[in-house]
Amino acid sequence: MPDRPIGFFDSGVGGLTVLYSAVKQMPEENFIYFGDSQNAPYGTKDADKVFELTSSAVEKLVLQGAKAVVIACNTATSIAVDRLRETVAVPIISMEPAVKPALEQTDGKVLLLATSVTLSSKRVCALIKKLDKNSRVIKVPCPDLAAKIEASVFGEEDVLPYLESVLAEYKDVGATAVVLGCTHYPLVKDKIKACLGESVLVFDGIDGTVQHLKDVLIQNNVKRDEKQKGTVLISSSKDDKKTNELFDRLISGGIL
Ligand code: DGL
Repeated sequence: MPDRPIGFFDSGVGGLTVLYSAVKQMPEENFIYFGDSQNAPYGTKDADKVFELTSSAVEKLVLQGAKAVVIACNTATSIAVDRLRETVAVPIISMEPAVKPALEQTDGKVLLLATSVTLSSKRVCALIKKLDKNSRVIKVPCPDLAAKIEASVFGEEDVLPYLESVLAEYKDVGATAVVLGCTHYPLVKDKIKACLGESVLVFDGIDGTVQHLKDVLIQNNVKRDEKQKGTVLISSSKDDKKTNELFDRLISGGIL
């Protein structure tokens, strides 16, 4: 059982930011990553469609023998994780926007950047209601950001003007923290900081997710021996030259 892979899933390349951290922390594990680039972005689709796509991707990873699945996509998590946990036989680890540490470690407004689907989901609304007793969290929908980040890898888009326009109205609200509620956004963390000022703390939730994955593997007694060397297999639902190059550029560039 420990030799079975850990499945990773995202609508495209965003989940690589989480995979990267998991591989760094657990190089002994075998990983299989599936990016549904054919259907990306998820953040502009309706909830039923996001559920259907996420469910079939998770099923695919389970059929490939995954001992646990990481939904490395906030949008897919926000819509699908609760229902999938009721039916899928292996543990599912998911992304939670890092609102809690942002509220605990800073004292001003907290800007939560995510797709519109994530921000309007019941799951994220409930999380904010539970944690944000003093109305410090401000939701900032970034509907086009994930697609623009992917295009920027080829120099086809400059993300900075888009970020400037989205964030302009929040520059003077007294923000002390930004929560990156989409796994694509750590790829442009520096640009987000450049828009809001270097003193703003950025929280991405990646380390928490990877730590949770590690804990779950240990609890289920399926963690591989640390002396072993693992493998990483990447696949995408869109097998064209440009998508392959996008994955290659991010992976060979060290991602973060
Ligand atoms: N990485 C996804 C997320 O975390 C991307 C969003 C999308 O596909 O629109 O939400």
